[in-house]
Amino acid sequence: MFSRSDFSPQVSIVTGGGSGIGLAIAAELVARGSSVVVADIDPVKAQSAATRLGGAATPATLDVADADAVTALVDRVVEERGRLDVMVNNAGVAIGGLLEELDERHWAKALDVNLRGVIHGVTAAYPHLRRQGRGSILNTASLAGLIPAPAMLPYTTTKHAVVGLSTALRAEAASQGVRVSVLCPGFVDTPLLDEVYAAPPSFGGDSVRARVRLMQPSFLTPEVVARKAVDGLAANRAVIPVGFLAHLSWRTLRYLPPVARGMVQVQATGHRRLNERAARRAAASA
Ligand SMILES: NC(=O)c1ccc[n+]([C@@H]2O[C@H](COP(=O)([O-])OP(=O)(O)OC[C@H]3O[C@@H](n4cnc5c(N)ncnc54)[C@H](O)[C@@H]3O)[C@@H](O)[C@H]2O)c1
Repeated sequence: MFSRSDFSPQVSIVTGGGSGIGLAIAAELVARGSSVVVADIDPVKAQSAATRLGGAATPATLDVADADAVTALVDRVVEERGRLDVMVNNAGVAIGGLLEELDERHWAKALDVNLRGVIHGVTAAYPHLRRQGRGSILNTASLAGLIPAPAMLPYTTTKHAVVGLSTALRAEAASQGVRVSVLCPGFVDTPLLDEVYAAPPSFGGDSVRARVRLMQPSFLTPEVVARKAVDGLAANRAVIPVGFLAHLSWRTLRYLPPVARGMVQVQATGHRRLNERAARRAAASA
């Protein structure tokens, strides 16, 4: 069995490490003594995150949708540093909108980054961790990976898949000395909420944050999420829900499924009504 004292990472990689939750997890790992490769599709974000984190962090430009690039980065880190202790597959994009507002591009983006990005990270890191006979994988899913999230189907589909991938791999990996955990926070105050890929007229002109506040009045901070994530990793937790809404919704779905489904239905109906109201407002002012 693992114990907390087994967790003393020296070399870590965090994808999507240039911003938000990834940057905060990278900072938490640095605080616990690890060097961290901050990998992000945006080279400016990767560089400024690494500068902020100081000498223990190195920037890398990486598109997690590119399997060969992910493997090349992971192999290079192991070759240069001799080991890999923590692989954090965190890069993700948000996709909002009702099914009829979305098209193939939204599905492709979600699948490429949120799901294939995690598959690529896991596939690249796992052989090294197995060979070492130790190491941890942390995949960032979401509360939307634990409960159905209407009005963001590509997102909730990929995040459910990440939870399934992580919990199944955890069972395979345990006998190899490799830990696998999945992070499932509620809504977090990061740029992701301002950069939702949504087809117009999604949200009927309302900001995503305004819609989200109806479900979760105050946002979690990336720092709180990162601390719980790394604590959960150290304690070898399978699923790491963060925030009151995440805990409440997950437990309700497990123990009172009809109640949870009712709550999801209210959310879907509410979203559609808000869209209709916003559309009427827009028509009246035109
Ligand atoms: N913010 C929330 O409310 C929330 C809640 C639950 C889960 N999450 C998940 O947390 C993770 C991090 O999101 P965040 O909120 O910190 O957002 P963020 O936008 O602050 O950070 C995401 C980072 O990923 C990078 N990125 C995007 N596409 C990439 C790609 N193809 N390859 C590499 N990097 C890429 C972005 O440049 C950005 O730096 C995501 O997987 C997201 O789905 C976010």
